[in-house]
Amino acid sequence: TQKVVKDKFDRPILSLRITLTNRCNVNCIYCHHDGMRSSKNEMTPDEIYRICKVAKEIGVRKIRLSGGEPLIRKDIVEIVSKIASLDFKDISMTSNGILLEKYAKDLKEAGLDRVNVSLDTLNPKTYEFITKKDYLKKAKEGILKSVEVGLYPVKINMVIMKDINEHEIKEMFEFCKDNNMVLQLIELIESENCDDDKFSAEYHYKLDMVEDRLADIADDVREREFMQGRKKYYINGGEIEVVKPVDNSKFCANCTRLRVTPDGKIKPCLLRNDNLVDIITEIRNDASDEKLEEIFLKGINKREPFNID
Ligand code: GTP
Ligand code: 5AD
Repeated sequence: TQKVVKDKFDRPILSLRITLTNRCNVNCIYCHHDGMRSSKNEMTPDEIYRICKVAKEIGVRKIRLSGGEPLIRKDIVEIVSKIASLDFKDISMTSNGILLEKYAKDLKEAGLDRVNVSLDTLNPKTYEFITKKDYLKKAKEGILKSVEVGLYPVKINMVIMKDINEHEIKEMFEFCKDNNMVLQLIELIESENCDDDKFSAEYHYKLDMVEDRLADIADDVREREFMQGRKKYYINGGEIEVVKPVDNSKFCANCTRLRVTPDGKIKPCLLRNDNLVDIITEIRNDASDEKLEEIFLKGINKREPFNID
């Protein structure tokens, strides 16, 4: 049996989400944009490897690489192959897909298991409105390439926004089903980027009703273990997962992830920035594995959910 570390709320720490960079090649209206947008202070492949090695020691099984856009990093294939040498159960990436046509094959060969790709619309005008760029065609090509090289499953992340794309769910589901991909519908979270409540008020679209409809037509519904009460709906041979980070008591209660920021700080909770724990300084000072494990445990100990009774 593998070691598992639990936090103060009895939540096992099973996965690590590493933000490799805050740089990005699109500029989405809902993006958090937290922190720097330059490569300054980004962790090196060896530093990232070191963090993953310690994470493995304390029982982490899954690694997710995210951004910004992780494929902006020129050393992305090297990063993946270093992590893959540690033999995790699952290594995945969250990407906007634009550079996947170029990298999918190399990433697969380096040991990446799967990708989640942000794609909110199949309409070029809407895509440009959301991302401020006209890369829809490139993103789609990257997505199809990922399927082709066997990154499996490819999941499409669709953030639902009122009057922008909520009417496109069916079309997106067909696109996913036709290409053997999973569709993840994500409820919009308020973003620091948009400093007033107007953004939320204008675009927020509750997914409860969508879920009710899915439940009606689904052949089967399952709740994912350790995944914040997320439900999977199986419909006509396709699969839709619904992510509701807003007003969801299970979102924090079932959270099993720890995060790392691009500049090497452990981020105990997704929804807060006031309890980061520096680990990169010790790595750069040649700290022992034991010392780094201690810092990890300190980060885990700081996990304080918003909505657990
Ligand atoms: P898999 O289901 O394993 O494919 O991962 P995922 O769907 O969580 O990863 P992805 O990067 O595609 O993120 C989708 C959504 O998950 C985001 O929009 C968030 O709402 C939520 N999420 C992302 N990161 C975290 C995190 O660190 N902690 C928690 N609790 N939720 C997160
Ligand atoms: N609300 C909801 N989801 C968001 N994402 C990014 N910003 C937001 C937001 N404000 C989603 C993107 C990305 C995933 C990791 O998070 O779809 O794929």
